[in-house]
Amino acid sequence: MKSVKITDTTLRDAHQSLWATRMRTEDMLPVLAELDAVGYHSLEVWGGATFDVCMRYLGEDPWERLRTIKRYVHKTPLQMLLRGQSLVGYQHYPDDVVEEFVSLSVKNGIDIIRIFDALNDVRNMVVPMKAAKKAGAHVQAAVVYTVSPVHTIGHYLETARELVELGADSICIKDMAGLLTPFKAYELVSLFKRELGVMIQLHSHYIGGMAVGAYLKAAEAGVDVIDTASVSLAFGASQPPVETVVRALQDSEYSSGLDIQQLFRLAQYFENLRKHKGFERGVTRISDMRVFEHQVPGGMITNLISQLEEQKALDRIHDVLSEIPKVRADLGYPPLVTPTSQIVGTQAVLNVLSGARYKLVPGEVKNYVRGLYGRPPAPISPEVQKKIIGDDEVVTVRPADLLEPGLAKAERDSASFALSKEDVLSYALFPQVAKKFLEERQEGGSQAAAASAAGAAGTPGKAGMAGAASVPASAPKPAATLRSKEDSSKMNLNEIKELIKIIDGTEISELNLESEGVKVSIRKGSAITAALPVTAPTAAVAVSAPVQSAPTISSEAAPVAAEEEFDEADYITSPMVGTFYRAAAPDAPAFVELGQHVREGQTVCIIEAMKLMNEIEAEVEGKIVEILVDNGQPVEYGQPLFKIQK
Ligand code: CO
Repeated sequence: MKSVKITDTTLRDAHQSLWATRMRTEDMLPVLAELDAVGYHSLEVWGGATFDVCMRYLGEDPWERLRTIKRYVHKTPLQMLLRGQSLVGYQHYPDDVVEEFVSLSVKNGIDIIRIFDALNDVRNMVVPMKAAKKAGAHVQAAVVYTVSPVHTIGHYLETARELVELGADSICIKDMAGLLTPFKAYELVSLFKRELGVMIQLHSHYIGGMAVGAYLKAAEAGVDVIDTASVSLAFGASQPPVETVVRALQDSEYSSGLDIQQLFRLAQYFENLRKHKGFERGVTRISDMRVFEHQVPGGMITNLISQLEEQKALDRIHDVLSEIPKVRADLGYPPLVTPTSQIVGTQAVLNVLSGARYKLVPGEVKNYVRGLYGRPPAPISPEVQKKIIGDDEVVTVRPADLLEPGLAKAERDSASFALSKEDVLSYALFPQVAKKFLEERQEGGSQAAAASAAGAAGTPGKAGMAGAASVPASAPKPAATLRSKEDSSKMNLNEIKELIKIIDGTEISELNLESEGVKVSIRKGSAITAALPVTAPTAAVAVSAPVQSAPTISSEAAPVAAEEEFDEADYITSPMVGTFYRAAAPDAPAFVELGQHVREGQTVCIIEAMKLMNEIEAEVEGKIVEILVDNGQPVEYGQPLFKIQK
C-alpha cells in the first residue's frame, strides 16, 4: 500500500485562484475543526496573496488570521507559500526582513513553509530556507514548472538537487499554470524520487483539465503528496477537486484513505458560502484550454480579467493572451508565477492597450531587466533591453546583496502606529497599505470601518472579482473629468486606441470624438486630455486643426469652466485604473508640489495598478496649478490628476 497524502489548499490557493483571495477569516472559522479532522497531510492557509489582500481589501490583520486558524487546527500542520526573497510581496526584501518574517510566521503558527523563486534562481531561496530551518519549520523547496526551450528535465533536476543540498526537507513540483501533462508528471516524479531521496509533493492547477491525470500518473511514479481543493472552490484556475481525486485513487494501492462523505459535508459548507457571497466556481474557458500558448497561471487569469474589466478592455483579453508569450520570450522565458507573472502580464496589457510595445514600462519591468529579480532563464532580447533600460548596467550578483538592511528603518518609521513586531513586518513589506491599515485600526476604527474604507479602493463586485473600481462620492471631481461611472463605461476603449493609432501615423495633431454621450479629445504626443459629457448621443469623428482649437462643446451640457480650462491648461491624466500616490513611499517626499514647475518626462506621481507601481510622467512642461486627487485615492482611466499651466 502506497497511500498518497493530500494537502488542502481551499483556504489559500483555491480562493486566491477563483475568488481574488477574498475569503475572510470569519468564513473559515465554522469549518476549521472539521478540516482538521479530515486527515489531510497539511492545510495551506497562509502566504501567497492572502497577506496583502487581508490588509488591502479585507481590513483584516493577516497575522491575526494565522493565530486564529492555529487556535482551531490542532493536529494538521499549517502550511504557507513563500515567494523566496519576495516573501509574500512583489519585490525582493533585505535579508534581515526575510529572516524576521520567516521567524514570525513560524512563531504565529506555520509548520510547513513552501519556498519558491519565480526564476528558479536558487540564490534567492538560500536566506529564506535557512531562516525556516532555524525557526524549526519543515522546509519545502519548490521547483517552478513551466514550458520553454530552456526548461528541460535536466534544468529541473539540477535545481531540485541544489535545493536538497541546501537542506530542503521535501521538494515540491509547482505547476502553477496546469502545464504538466500526465506523462511528463510521471517522468519528472520518477526521476526526482530516484535521484533526490526526499519527499516529493506535486502542486498543480486544473486550468486546462489535465491535473487529475497528472496526479494519477504522479501517484504511479511514487509521489508522496498532492494538492487539491474542496469541490466548491476547485476546477478552473484552482486545484482539482479533492472528491474526484480521492475517488479516483480509491480502488488502487494509492488510496488516500480520506472519508468522501466528510469531504462532501465540507464541500456543502463552501458551496453555501460561495452562493451567499456570489462567488464563482471554477470554470474552464476556451482561453484556459489555450494555456499551453499563453501559460498564464491560476491566480493570474482572474486578475488579468478583472484588470482588463477595470480598464474597460475585457474584449482585448485574446490580444493580451497572445502578447504574453511574446513578452515572455523577449524577457528570457521567465516562468509565469508571482511576481514574474505580474511583470510579464502587465507589460503585455500595456503593450496591447497603449498600441505600442514597451512604450509604457513599469518600474518593476525595468528592475527585472536590470537583473534585480535574479537571473532570467535565458538571455533577454538585446533590442527589448535597450528599449527598456537603455545602456543601464545589469547586475549579476544575488539581488538582495544590493539591499541595505531594512528592519531597523521599518521599526523607526512605523513606531507611531505599529503595536507589535508583526505590525513592523507588515509595514516593512507593504509600507503604503500597512500604514493606512494600521493607522485606521489605531484611530479606533472598527474592523468594519477599515474594511469599508479599504473596500472603496477595490473590493470586488458581487462576482468576487475586482470589478470596475468606483470613485467614492467624496473623491474630488474636477469639472473636466468623467461625470460618472456610467459615462466612463460608455467610452469605447477600442475607438480611442484606434484614434491614437490614426493620429500617430499622420500629420493630424488633434482628434475629437463624440460617441454615445461622451466626447473625447486626443492630442498627438499627449494623453487623452478630456472626456466631456455632451447632450445628444452622436458618433462622429471630427478632425480639427492643431492644438489651439479647443474641442467644440455643446454649451448646454458642458460645464462652463471646462471651456476656458481647456484653452489655457493641460491635464496629466491617469493612463490606467488604479490607486494614486503622490510619493514613492509613505515617508518619501511627494514627487511634485503645488506651484512647482515640471519638465516633460518628470515623474509626478505613482499609479498603483495590477500590483505594480507605475511612475507617471508629465507629458507637457508647465506649472502644477492644481492637484486633483488625494493621496491614496482610486482613480479611473483617463481621470485628470494634475492641472498644468503651460
Ligand atoms: Co498554486
